[in-house]
Amino acid sequence: MDRIDDIARGRRTLKLLPDPADPLPGPGLPRARVEALVESAGWAPFHRACAAARNGGDAAVEPWRVHLLDKPACTALIPRLDTLPKPPGKIVNMLAAADALVLVTWLPEEEEDWAASELNMEHIAATGAMIQTLLLAATEAGIGSYWSSGGVLAGEAFGMLGIDARERLLGAVFLWPDDAGGVESAPGKLRGQRRGPDRWARWVEIRSP
Ligand SMILES: Cc1cc2nc3c(=O)[nH]c(=O)nc-3n(C[C@H](O)[C@H](O)[C@H](O)COP(=O)(O)O)c2cc1C
Repeated sequence: MDRIDDIARGRRTLKLLPDPADPLPGPGLPRARVEALVESAGWAPFHRACAAARNGGDAAVEPWRVHLLDKPACTALIPRLDTLPKPPGKIVNMLAAADALVLVTWLPEEEEDWAASELNMEHIAATGAMIQTLLLAATEAGIGSYWSSGGVLAGEAFGMLGIDARERLLGAVFLWPDDAGGVESAPGKLRGQRRGPDRWARWVEIRSP
């Protein structure tokens, strides 16, 4: 796959759901391959620098932060999630299948009404663009993926993952092995409901005053 249209259409949600007590074998993705995908994703656009206070005094512009788990870390996390008060649900099944997991968070500004903030809207938009670029890079590399909201990974597990409580998880991106050996799998629920641009895009005709 080399054209962006092929890669965009070729990206699809795949969920692999083996028994968490029986993780898929294999070494997982080499760290260098995951890092290369993340480096590509880091070319996503962003608009405004994050507040320096949110970056520990570091005036870095990127609103996203990325926490990488290789396969041994994914496997080690399974029993730890079972200790949380909230049941981890299918996240543990997916950890048992993943070749790597990329947790992408963003850093909210310190504001009362953060949901209404244009700054935060743009931080989320930039982080979403970053995640999509990661998915496209994985697709081009022939690596299956799944963008999950993360369930317990989105908060309850921050402590055990060493993620700052002020960050917000936007995507838990599971990266899958080539050969899942016939374990249970599922597509994205809404995949088949996608409509064409004739349903959501229009050319603008400038209206008379
Ligand atoms: C922000 C975001 C969060 C998502 N979280 C979940 C999730 O928690 N569970 C899930 O089943 N799918 C999740 N998805 C994947 C969508 O369900 C999937 O993209 C959609 O069904 C379309 O399928 P496709 O990705 O194959 O085109 C998420 C997608 C986005 C953009």
